[in-house]
Amino acid sequence: MTEKDEIYRCNICGNMVQVLHTGPGKLVCCENQMELLEEKTDGVGPEKHLPIIEKTDDGVKVKVGSIPHPMEENHCIEWIELIADNKIYTKFLKPGDKPEAEFNLKMEDITQIMAREYCSIHGLWKSA
Ligand SMILES: [Fe+2]
Repeated sequence: MTEKDEIYRCNICGNMVQVLHTGPGKLVCCENQMELLEEKTDGVGPEKHLPIIEKTDDGVKVKVGSIPHPMEENHCIEWIELIADNKIYTKFLKPGDKPEAEFNLKMEDITQIMAREYCSIHGLWKSA
């Protein structure tokens, strides 16, 4: 993660923002400082939260968990993000969807790749 990919959440109203350009100011929502989300690689149920990047015939697939994460109303993966060199791809998910995302890009052209996902209960995770 570079500073410009940082994700902040308001723990009062739930607003979440991703930084596209950094400035010196502090991000504030609901009159409180927003929380910088830590990208976890360990913690509660890594087997259901760590994004796994796989090459496919059409591009790249990101699966959330070696055991698929639940996609229930109150506990689901809200989005999956793939950061490939200087491009960011995001797929937003809803309850009932599969906890995975496929992106149309050529893995061969990429030098640096990583994936992140956000679980509504267990927060932000990144591929190991
Ligand atoms: Fe979770």
